[in-house]
This record gives sequence, C-alpha cells and structure tokens, in this order.
Amino acid sequence: MNSSTTTSGLAFDIQLSQARKTPQQRAEILENPGFGTVFTDHMVTIRYTEGTGWHDARLEPYAPLQLDPATAALHYAQEIFEGLKAYRHPDGSIACFRPDVNATRLNTSARRIAMPDLPEELFIGSIATLLEHDADWVPTTPGNSLYLRPFMIATDVGLGVNNPSRTYLFLVIASPAGSYFKGGVAPVTVWLSEDYTRAAPGGTGAAKFAGNYAASFAAQSQAVEKGCDQVVWLDAVEHRWVEEMGGMNLFFVFGSGPEARIMTPELTGTLLPGVTRDSLLKLAPELGVPASEGRLSTDQWREGAASGELTEVFACGTAAVITPVGHVKSEQGEFTIGDGTPGPVTMRLREELVGRQEGTRADSDGWIHRFA
Ligand code: COI
Repeated sequence: MNSSTTTSGLAFDIQLSQARKTPQQRAEILENPGFGTVFTDHMVTIRYTEGTGWHDARLEPYAPLQLDPATAALHYAQEIFEGLKAYRHPDGSIACFRPDVNATRLNTSARRIAMPDLPEELFIGSIATLLEHDADWVPTTPGNSLYLRPFMIATDVGLGVNNPSRTYLFLVIASPAGSYFKGGVAPVTVWLSEDYTRAAPGGTGAAKFAGNYAASFAAQSQAVEKGCDQVVWLDAVEHRWVEEMGGMNLFFVFGSGPEARIMTPELTGTLLPGVTRDSLLKLAPELGVPASEGRLSTDQWREGAASGELTEVFACGTAAVITPVGHVKSEQGEFTIGDGTPGPVTMRLREELVGRQEGTRADSDGWIHRFA
C-alpha cells in the first residue's frame, strides 16, 4: 500500500512492507530481544540537498541501503546518530522519554560535523511515523523497550575532502531491546585507560559522532584483555581526570543514607552530554540526593574508595540505563567500590528513572512524550 501522511510540513510517502514479520515471529523475537540485533518492519528515510533543504520523506520497508562505493560517509565518517527508547505504558500507550533533547543534540552534533540541522518537528514526526506503523514492536514486558536509532549520513559521491557533503540522508530504524549488558544490573569492572584517549579539547567528544565510537574499540578491546567489561576514559591533557565509561556517563556517590550525594564529571566539551546524565542531575535532588557536576582524578577515585567516602559508582546512558561499577583496574593496581555490589543510591535512582520512563511513576518533570 502506498499512501501519504503530512508531518511538520513535509509529506511522508508511506510504503508498507509486504514482508512483515508474522505476529508469532514477532512474539518470539520480543521474548528475548537482546540489544540491536533485530529490526522492525519499517524505517524512515529523508533526504537533504543543499539549496532545497529536507525532502522526500518516506516510511518504507526496512531494507539494505544502496550506496555508491565513493559515498562520503564511507570515507570521511560524516555520520552522526542518536539513541532513544519507546516504552509501552501500563495503559497500552507508547511514549518516549525526552525526545526533544535528542532532537536538539542531533543538531549540536550535526553542526560539529558540518551537517545540516534537522527541524525538531521532523525528528519527532519521523519517530511518530515509524511508531505508528511498527507499534506492535514496542515490547509489553517491563524492562524491555523499542530502541530507536535516528542517524544521518553524508551522501555526496566523490573522494575530495575539501568541503563537507552537500547531500545527506537521515534515517530512523528501530530495534526491540532488552538488557544492554548481558549481566543486567550486575556491576561491571572497568579499566582506566592511560594508553588511549576518547576526546581532546576542540575535538568531537561532545558530538554523538560515529568516529568517536570507531576510535573507542581498540581501548575497549584492551579493557577486555585486562579482564574488564568496559573502558573508562581520562582527559587527554593530564590523563588523570575521569571523563566517561565506554559510551556512557559516570556518576560518583559520596556518603550514604541521608548524607548521600552524587557528582558527575562536568561537561568540558570533551564529554557527551547524555540525556540520562542530565535527567539524573534533576531527578536525584527531587529524591533528596544533592547532585553536582565536578571533577574527580583517578587518585581521588582510588583514595575515596579506600577511605569509604566514595560509596558507589554507576554509569548511565539510554541503552543501559544505570549500570553499577563494582571494580576498577589500571596499571597501578585494582580496587573495589564499597563491597562491589549494586549500591542503594544507584538502585533507587534506577528504579525511579525506569518507573518514569515506563509510566509506573509520576512524570513530575514533564519528560514523557506520548506517541500513541
Ligand atoms: C547509549 O547509552 O544510548 C549509548 O550511547 C550506547 C549506544 C552507542 C549503544
């Protein structure tokens, strides 16, 4: 069937898949979705041409892209992405958590990589169009969700590297998601990387730019070789200030009980401004846990854990939500945070955040955007 719906001034040409998964196939996938391996029946594509702007918005069957081998994105990594989730609420409706923040961040990333802005209404309209047609893919099991991956690639053909591309393709694909880490909320062990840096001042660290992730894999492999689950990045100048963990932001908990407070590394321009990070900075004080941005050196981390002043550490991101950090390893040795198990502040924040996302806790900050 071909039809057309208009969203934010641009008409979406709707081409429905003739090869949709059957309800039974879908149910089997949704039973154990893993993360990012199975995709829904459709995808959104919108093209951009300099001088014309965004055009040719489509919902079409999920399928491989046909790209000229000289396409700019394949050579010079002009590619950015976002990640957000659609949740099935108890009343059966479908909602996303702060999609406007993802829309804004996509454009911040776009500017850093010399790509065009995508109007926020088009970002939200793309998600609405995909969710309307792939609604049955939003899991009903608490803890599971539909991970949405909006992304933009440069599509000019040619190997010249003097100018950014003049044509782009924006897409949204979707994948049912369970737990990101195989161990669920089991604490991870991290490796403090002194050999590699993720981002330097003036670089691309604050953008959700594909190249940042490509550059992280060697360090992540090294972390695994050292017996760890994840790499922790230090600053590029002094190699001692803690920045991020893999693709996630970090929080440190000091004190306990009514004295507990949390701190996350400040956004220096080399860290990714995570949506979950931002949300926790607002949500924690609402639960009576003061929150601040600051900086922490690797020595302070080690000493804080040894003295007991630093009681918990966790990482946060859209994909893995909140993941406790239990052990830390580096060339200088290793240490444990608290008793190495998930701490009470970590778990309380996780419960509240997930509750709001899944619609079982009040949306006190107006973060929920209902789609259907
Ligand atoms: C997220 O937590 O959303 C991330 O950025 C990880 C993702 C690259 C899989």
